[in-house]
Formats: sequence, structure tokens, C-alpha cells
Amino acid sequence: MLVHAITPNTTYEFAADVRTGLTKPLQKELLSKYLYDDVGSALFEVISHLPEYGLTRADERLLRRHSHEIVERLATPVAVAELGSGSGRKTRHILEALCRRQRTRYYPIEISRSALMMCERELSDIDSISILGFEREYLDGLLEVAAHRRTGQHLLVLFLGSTIGNFDRPAGIQFLTEVRRILQPGDSLLLGTDLEKPGVQLLAAYDDELGVTAAFNLNLLARVNRQLDADFDLTLFRHEARINHVDRSVEMHLRSTCNQTVNIPAAELSVEFSEGETIWTESSHKYSSEDVFVMARSAGFRCDAQWIDEEWPFAENLLIAE
Ligand code: AVJ
Repeated sequence: MLVHAITPNTTYEFAADVRTGLTKPLQKELLSKYLYDDVGSALFEVISHLPEYGLTRADERLLRRHSHEIVERLATPVAVAELGSGSGRKTRHILEALCRRQRTRYYPIEISRSALMMCERELSDIDSISILGFEREYLDGLLEVAAHRRTGQHLLVLFLGSTIGNFDRPAGIQFLTEVRRILQPGDSLLLGTDLEKPGVQLLAAYDDELGVTAAFNLNLLARVNRQLDADFDLTLFRHEARINHVDRSVEMHLRSTCNQTVNIPAAELSVEFSEGETIWTESSHKYSSEDVFVMARSAGFRCDAQWIDEEWPFAENLLIAE
């Protein structure tokens, strides 16, 4: 695979975001996209195999069971762009179904180079596929893909795994609207959304017995240490998952167990934590199936079809650009 983009100088941006997040007066925060460095991506891969965390397996089951039906609904010829390809394991089902009908160009868009490489290894054996990866932020990558589009060729954008849930609801709609703006009428977006489920089940999924999710969350501090030369003591922070009933989301926090000061030289920052104070690191919003119809509509799509997994409530939604 040709990895198309040059690695941008992200350390500067990371430092700026850490500084902004940790100097917020009410609730300190670190952006969830920074959970996914090489260690974090590997830990998420482990999370997706945990019995408590059914989300990824539900997503894959739906794609495995319904890929033919999904592909049949698409206007062809079509090229595929994926926002956040991860390992590529789930995507295989769609790509195989599509490659049976046409030669297919697949553009994974990923900020993690190691995830891009993993996805190439996983998918390059499919017949009639050509893969062109973009090491880019989602919308920047999608703009480049759209620029490669041939006349008469449609686009299918994959946004799987309920990654949309990491946006708050207005920002989610805003993001879909921006995706829609890059697309043309008749193009499609396959959107994976985790559905609402009981609080106990969600808490178990986001605070598993083995402590993998705790490690995934704490790795954010370890990453700040590695990349920005900071001196976070990981034993002085605890992973916490909580339900936000108003937002209908699960939040991850890191709770300081004492009063302490942390130095982050590369961000020219020293931060005070009081005992019990938290850093908010992620929100994972949950949806009803109607939520998706409304979201799609307000972003300029219509929801053409929806497939729901009964075992772990999750929906695959095929949205068509109007
Ligand atoms: C990859 C964003 C879908 O929100 O469930 C897993 C990330 N966080 N465990 C999610 C995650 C904690 C995951 N997404």
C-alpha cells in the first residue's frame, strides 16, 4: 500500500490541546482522540475481545450477516472511504461483497500509521481490491478522497464502531453535515451506532474486571509522559466510568487520589489537582433507532435502511445523501 500522506508534526498540536484541556477552570479534560497511539490502539483491540464489551462484535456480526444486502442498495460503480479504519477486520465483509461485483478502490483514513499498516495487512489479499491509505484527520482525508473521484463514480463512506458517539449530539450532527457537504447526491454513508442499554451493562463494558479499559484510559497520561516529558504518577489516578443520564452517554474520567502537582514541560505547564478531582477523557453517546433517523435528516441524508443486532443492541444505518 502507498501511504499517501506525510506524518504531520502532531506533537505541537498535542501539547496545545493538552494545555487547553488541563487549564479548563471547571472540568479538566483530555481529548479522546489522543487515546489512540500505538499502545492505546492495541489496548482497544483487546477491549473489543472482552466479554463485557459487546460493541465491536455486534458491529462485525451485522456487517457479516448483511453485507450483501447493504451492497445491493448502493449506486455503482462505487469507491469506499473509511473514517478510522482500525484493524480492518469488520470492513472485510463489505469489501468482499463489493469486490464480487466490481473492482474496488478502498481508501482507509486514519491518524494512526500503525492502524493503517495493520488494515493493509488484513485486507490486501481480497481479490479485485486496491488500497490507498491516508494518514489524515477524517475530513481532511475525505476531501482528498473526493478529489480522486472519477466522473460517474459514487462514494460509500464507512463510519463504523459508533465512533460518532464520541461527539456530543450537536457536534455529531455537525460532523455528519460536513461529511454530507463533501459528498454528492446518491453517495452513501454506512454509520454504526451503539444503542441505549441498561446502566449496569454499560458500566461493566467501560470498567471491565481485567482492568483493560482502565489501562486504556490511564495510557493517556502515560502518553503525555512519553510525548511531552510530563511526570504524571499513574498510581495516583484511578479510572472511572459513569453514566450521564442527561446526555445518555458513558463518560470515562481519571480521578486524582490526592492533592498533587504535575509538570508538563513540553506544554510549558504545571497543573494542580485536588484530591477527588477528575480529568474527563471520553464520552460515548448511546442512541435510539429514531435518534439516527433524526440525525441523518438534519445532516442532509435519508436513512435508507437500518439493521439491528439483538444480542448487543447496536444499529448499522445506511444513509443516502439527498
Ligand atoms: C471506539 C469510540 C467506539 O466509545 O465505546 C472503548 C472506545 N472507550 N472503551 C467506545 C472505548 C472505552 C469506543 N469507541
